[in-house]
Amino acid sequence: MNFPAIIADKKFGRALTGEQIEAFVRGAADKTVPDYQLSALLMAIRLNGMDARETADLTLAMARSGDMLHPDVGGIPVDKHSTGGVGDTTTLVLVPLCAACGAKIAKMSGRGLGHTGGTVDKMESIGMRTSLPEADFLRQVREIGCAVVGQSAELAPADKTLYALRDTTATVDSLPLIASSIMSKKLASGAQGIVLDVKVGSGAIMPDYAGSLALAKTMVDIGTRAGRNVSALLTGMDEPLGSHVGNMLEVKDAVEILRGESAGPLLTVSLALGAQLLTVGGVAANPEEGEAMLRRALADGSGLEKLRQLIRAQGGDESVCDHPEALADAPIVRDVAAPRAGVIARMDTTLLGYAAQELGAGRRQKTDQIDPRVGFIMRCRVGDNLSAGAPICTVYAANEDTFAGAQQMILRAVEIGDAPTPPSRLIYAMVTPQGVTEY
Ligand code: URA
Repeated sequence: MNFPAIIADKKFGRALTGEQIEAFVRGAADKTVPDYQLSALLMAIRLNGMDARETADLTLAMARSGDMLHPDVGGIPVDKHSTGGVGDTTTLVLVPLCAACGAKIAKMSGRGLGHTGGTVDKMESIGMRTSLPEADFLRQVREIGCAVVGQSAELAPADKTLYALRDTTATVDSLPLIASSIMSKKLASGAQGIVLDVKVGSGAIMPDYAGSLALAKTMVDIGTRAGRNVSALLTGMDEPLGSHVGNMLEVKDAVEILRGESAGPLLTVSLALGAQLLTVGGVAANPEEGEAMLRRALADGSGLEKLRQLIRAQGGDESVCDHPEALADAPIVRDVAAPRAGVIARMDTTLLGYAAQELGAGRRQKTDQIDPRVGFIMRCRVGDNLSAGAPICTVYAANEDTFAGAQQMILRAVEIGDAPTPPSRLIYAMVTPQGVTEY
């Protein structure tokens, strides 16, 4: 197949045939098409889009680019996936809570993408293995109810190649590329119950509600046609979800929530997603019952105990469950102060994500190494009143240069006004095969 001709077709906005899509996906999976041609096609798709048939063809071709699992995990295998956010560590909160309630979570997570963080990077920051042989992965789910790994070379390998290229070619924010990336992995891993967390707001890959809703509907449709039980929540990303941004710092945030020492929007959204997960996994009859079960697992400490088991099973440092404060440690720890008094009117959350990347918490190039220690803890939320000089956040930096760069970006990202401002919205809508419920 002539690859420049495929690129040219998409450049001129023509729909690609199933055969062209197969050739693209095969070339990405076995790396016979060079990165520069794949990147050119990704950009053409980003600019000219794909119709529903092309998006479905792309998803199925990517899912079939490697093994298709039919996992035996002693129950209904469930998974949740987020379109990505900042301070968005729901996985580390809801996976242990749901597993403590009896769910079987065989989870495939990603690394940071663009300005967003990734669970795999957070797990590796405390020494956890994120690549397990398939048999060990499934045994762990059977034994403790959960396992979280990164993408293996065997599952959806086309996505592995394309994901890394999109991260560094400004082609992340594309509905067909996001939908196919997420759903190919979920279909290949054999998840029967799937919960999608589609972010809306200034830190989301698709910032506006209409785009996020279209993305959620596309993914629910693809999953349902493939015979999976899928639901999606549209959740707010107009400011970091948890107060902590950065890899070790986000693990700290999750542990403190499971220890019952902190709450807030990260817990609220984790409970809402977890309740959906228990429902699609047949553990709860409905989300209300699911949420009550999760709250019990939080209150009786079984969620924290499950996190400890998960960390231990994957070779990480389980002492973080007893001493989360040890995860806040970097050569420079310094506040960024409010330049004037006022109300937090708005946050450019994408820019906050890039501030974390500037500190070394994310990658600018495929081969960049993450610094697990760096990031920041927000000291305010949208709608809060601050006096001049009060801390906006505390930055954890490796050196003065990255501190100065991040400080400048944070001050640009956090807008201080005078008018009273309501808190950011957290849950906008639920999408199921039956339709959309708006809140
Ligand atoms: N998560 C993914 O796995 N892929 C995307 O494209 C976005 C978020």
